[in-house]
Amino acid sequence: MNDTPNLRAAIVGAGPSGFYAAGQLLAEGFSVDLIDQLPTPFGLVRFGVAPDHPKIKNVTRVYEKTAANENFRFFGGVTLGEDITRAELKERYDVVVYATGTSSDNRLGIEGEDLAGSHPATEFVAWYNGHPFAANKSFDLNCERAVVIGNGNVAIDVARMLVLDPDEVEPTDTADHAIKTLAECGIKEVILLGRRGPAQAAFTNPELLELGELKRADVIVDPADMELDEVSETWLAGEGADPTNRRNVEIMREYSTRTPEGKTHRVVLKYLRSPVEILGDGDKVTGIRVGINKIEDDGNGNPRAVPTGETEDIECGLVMRSIGYRGEPLDDIPFEPKRGLIRNDGGRVTDDQGVPIPGEYVTGWIKRGPSGVIGTNKKDSADTVAKIVEDREAGRLGSPSVSDDTESWLRSRVPNLTSWEGWGKIDRHEIALGEPQGRPRVKLVDVAEMAEIANS
Ligand SMILES: Cc1cc2nc3c(=O)[nH]c(=O)nc-3n(C[C@H](O)[C@H](O)[C@H](O)COP(=O)(O)OP(=O)(O)OC[C@H]3O[C@@H](n4cnc5c(N)ncnc54)[C@H](O)[C@@H]3O)c2cc1C
Ligand SMILES: NC(=O)c1ccc[n+]([C@@H]2O[C@H](COP(=O)([O-])OP(=O)(O)OC[C@H]3O[C@@H](n4cnc5c(N)ncnc54)[C@H](OP(=O)(O)O)[C@@H]3O)[C@@H](O)[C@H]2O)c1
Repeated sequence: MNDTPNLRAAIVGAGPSGFYAAGQLLAEGFSVDLIDQLPTPFGLVRFGVAPDHPKIKNVTRVYEKTAANENFRFFGGVTLGEDITRAELKERYDVVVYATGTSSDNRLGIEGEDLAGSHPATEFVAWYNGHPFAANKSFDLNCERAVVIGNGNVAIDVARMLVLDPDEVEPTDTADHAIKTLAECGIKEVILLGRRGPAQAAFTNPELLELGELKRADVIVDPADMELDEVSETWLAGEGADPTNRRNVEIMREYSTRTPEGKTHRVVLKYLRSPVEILGDGDKVTGIRVGINKIEDDGNGNPRAVPTGETEDIECGLVMRSIGYRGEPLDDIPFEPKRGLIRNDGGRVTDDQGVPIPGEYVTGWIKRGPSGVIGTNKKDSADTVAKIVEDREAGRLGSPSVSDDTESWLRSRVPNLTSWEGWGKIDRHEIALGEPQGRPRVKLVDVAEMAEIANS
């Protein structure tokens, strides 16, 4: 630890990566201002993690300890690129760290993608978790079958939320509007569609196992899908695959031997299918046309999906596209459009020649891409903070020139600025609303209401 009380860091984004960077910079003697567009902290821990996984959210206790440091301040309700600019931050701080996450979604680029009833999973997840920007979205769940495209953990979350019993949803912190809509959901079957085979699914083992223990849904895997092709067999046995892939295959093999218990709902895992068109009647989804794939070696020992030329139509009334999140450009911060990330070299933001820009850093999903669990961001932030410390020793940090009072400056832009104490009031208010209903909290979804409570 180096005692540098005069060095000031601004971190934009109060998700896991922002909080880990804050804790690590505080330990290095920096003072930290953590800025978020919302009055509420914690990013995807609040707005991504599934409501029926409340224990995962206990990680916020670690972040609360960080926030208790006397050199820490939280400024909620401030949007970089709208209320303040990158240049204004650089004028005021020795270090600026972008930890803004990747809130947008990848596109399939196929016909019918924007029909009513075809949604990015990002939006559905944000909606059921009460993200203020998604609270006014609507989802028509009055159909028999939904198709979820993608084989990651987000796809599993989405599938599970669609088939949970209302009794399982009601005691959670699912947004009130979603509890109501989900209770009336008519969907009886959810198909999870993988473009490659079961060996290449991106699920993690506990999430896949949970799918086999759902109260009101049988999990269905076709035994034929579990007869793996040669490329997959070789890959699975080699170093390209990891124990998670091998265990996933074991779990799915067990699923494929099950006789359905005749539960009211079904989750079907379907493989070697790529969406080629979302079919519609007028402007509403009626199905999805999928191309049937086979697995081939990509030349480097990795299995890739290759179209056979055959197609198949699957009737459905809802399509959820869960093929990964995507970062968006922010203000004039250097951006790599192809990967959807802030341009950086190991956490140092770089110019278009690849040269680090003094004083600007990045961490989390907007640094490395939208993958990894909450804990992955701890190491990621530590790597970025190591670069900051190196640059401090070498005298390569930013050179702030404006020394106005930060809080007054921010309040001049955002009259309803939220402090950490203000968030505490929102937190207690939400918990108090949840208590009589036996729920962890009732989430507020209106930013103006949150700001009013925070500033009361
Ligand atoms: C649906 C879903 C479920 C998940 N479930 C789990 C799970 O159960 N367990 C697990 O370990 N991991 C889970 N993860 C992964 C985990 O959530 C991520 O690894 C982690 O949240 C990424 O952290 P981050 O700080 O980079 O981004 P985020 O958590 O997205 O935080 C970014 C923050 O930046 C703020 N921001 C964005 N733009 C601006 C701006 N212009 N100005 C100011 N602020 C801004 C946002 O409001 C947000 O608070 C899940 C991910 C998703 C998508
Ligand atoms: N409970 C948890 O711990 C939890 C919950 C949610 C999320 N997370 C984490 O958050 C991260 C993001 O999860 P994610 O599910 O969004 O992403 P992900 O794990 O990267 O999965 C994306 C899926 O989309 C597929 N895909 C991509 N492009 C496609 C296309 N054009 N057509 C068809 N399929 C396509 C991918 O298939 P290919 O493999 O063939 O590319 C993959 O199956 C992951 O690290 C995840 O583990 C964790």
